[in-house]
Amino acid sequence: MSKTTDPVALREWIVIGAITDVQQAVPYRTRVLGQEIVCLRKDDVFEVHELHELDGDLTPQRPVQVRTRYGHVWVCLAGEARPMIEVEEFADPRRRMITWGGVYVRTSPQRLVENFLDMGHFPFVHTGILGAEPVTEIRDYKVELRAEEAEIWATECMFYQPKASTAADTGRDTSYIYRTSGPFVVVLYKTAEEEGAFDNIGMLVQPLDEEHCRVFGYTLLLEAHTTDTEALHFQQTVFLQDRLILEQQTPRRIPLYEKNEIPARADAASVGYRRWLRAVGMQFGVLPQQVKEGSPQ
Ligand SMILES: [Fe+2]
Repeated sequence: MSKTTDPVALREWIVIGAITDVQQAVPYRTRVLGQEIVCLRKDDVFEVHELHELDGDLTPQRPVQVRTRYGHVWVCLAGEARPMIEVEEFADPRRRMITWGGVYVRTSPQRLVENFLDMGHFPFVHTGILGAEPVTEIRDYKVELRAEEAEIWATECMFYQPKASTAADTGRDTSYIYRTSGPFVVVLYKTAEEEGAFDNIGMLVQPLDEEHCRVFGYTLLLEAHTTDTEALHFQQTVFLQDRLILEQQTPRRIPLYEKNEIPARADAASVGYRRWLRAVGMQFGVLPQQVKEGSPQ
């Protein structure tokens, strides 16, 4: 697949790896939005180029914007990038960052984001961890646009969780705030072990192309008892459960035609996300038209 022409996707900052994934002077090759790229690191300076065929070889050509932030390397393929999400919790010295990314998933970036926003699957997919039957009801919550309509916030989300984190020793009602910034980034604020505080968890999707992604993420932990390895295992256990479900969903791209999938009341965050994708005219990773049964996808 060649580089997408969708201006909405092209102007996004997209994670291509944790900073520690890119080794000194070793070409780090990957793909973003259908475009092959290569990243080179010299000390803390990163250079990224698109790879194009020249005399039968893929060679580094057009330079690509690159930034390092939030423990990750980000690129933007367009000349003018949409502002990157501001996560002020990264400036809090009490917090410890654990990166947990690089998981390959055969689906669209939008399916990944929707799954991350969906509390309804907790009791069935993350049984005994993030949910448990018979407590399956989703209580009402609010969805609104913020940050000059670039972010979709879902607030006042509450869910009973048997084991909300590695450190949790009893079940409890867990409070969630979901913050979706553009099509590929979701940040979650979740009740922390410390009274009144929130852990911060981010999912950063690298769309390789419309139906193949790598998923990166971080957890900003407040409490000191959990080791990095324990926190990593917790996130990976949860995410690998999600991957099994995600790779079975068809079509891989999400239909944006309103009547194609009828959302339940509990899907308010997902509905808000789809409305946003429609409003900005997103083409990459979605099916803008209604798909007739039996037609090729
Ligand atoms: Fe999940």
